[in-house]
Amino acid sequence: MTAHFQQRGDVAVLVPAAGSGVRLGPGAPKALRPLGGVPLLLHAVRRLAAASSVAVIVVAAPPADVAAVRDLLAPATAGLPLIVVPGGAHRQASVAAALAAVPAGPQIVLVHDAARALTPPDLVDSVAAAVRAGADAVIPVLPVVDTIKSVDADETVLATVDRSTLRAVQTPQGFRRDVLAAAHADAVDPHTDDAGLVEKLGVPVLCVPGSERALKITRPFDLVIAEHLLATEPATRTLPS
Ligand code: CTP
Ligand code: MG
Repeated sequence: MTAHFQQRGDVAVLVPAAGSGVRLGPGAPKALRPLGGVPLLLHAVRRLAAASSVAVIVVAAPPADVAAVRDLLAPATAGLPLIVVPGGAHRQASVAAALAAVPAGPQIVLVHDAARALTPPDLVDSVAAAVRAGADAVIPVLPVVDTIKSVDADETVLATVDRSTLRAVQTPQGFRRDVLAAAHADAVDPHTDDAGLVEKLGVPVLCVPGSERALKITRPFDLVIAEHLLATEPATRTLPS
């Protein structure tokens, strides 16, 4: 065991992984589809386990695959505790199920999409560090590169949006545990991210620099990009096998 894996963190990471991957096309649940011969979820969990801030990983799995996911991931967490729960009907329900399973202890909780399978461990640690430094909620973001226009129902342009004020949002998103719990307790409509729930509470959300390697694998073309990213991944840390 390397010195790196002897260092234990203070963060619980929730991994919503229960989606079916409709936009990827027919097949197994997205988290279990292969990238370079390895399920997306295994890629994601290996990289989380290599982040020194992480103390425990809680996965929300497709309900039919809970036992298989446990078997898949157990050897890949570098000795970190792993909890696998059945996910819900939408992402927010899966996150809520995982949050309910977090053991006592960690006061910082990160939420990370299994679909962002190649997220570098350093990004996980930088989000956690920003929460530890005092932010209630932290999101990794990238600038928006395309020109963005709003349109009406007929696809006629209404306006060009000022891109300089926009950010594309990634995961992991980091929270003080009590803030995330309050946000989910208050949730009514499903949101596509957890910071959206926290914003509803009026809590400020801090942006930190994201990573192009943290792209969300959504459509078939994203898998092509991810195969290239995997082949060119910097070997900065030892990943558990
Ligand atoms: N997710 C989840 N539970 C759901 C739906 C989504 O845990 N009921 C997870 C997905 O597994 C994924 C993350 O939320 O890791 C982001 O969702 P998305 O990229 O939309 O994945 P899917 O919902 O699987 O894809 P699609 O929307 O194309 O069906
Ligand atoms: Mg989805």
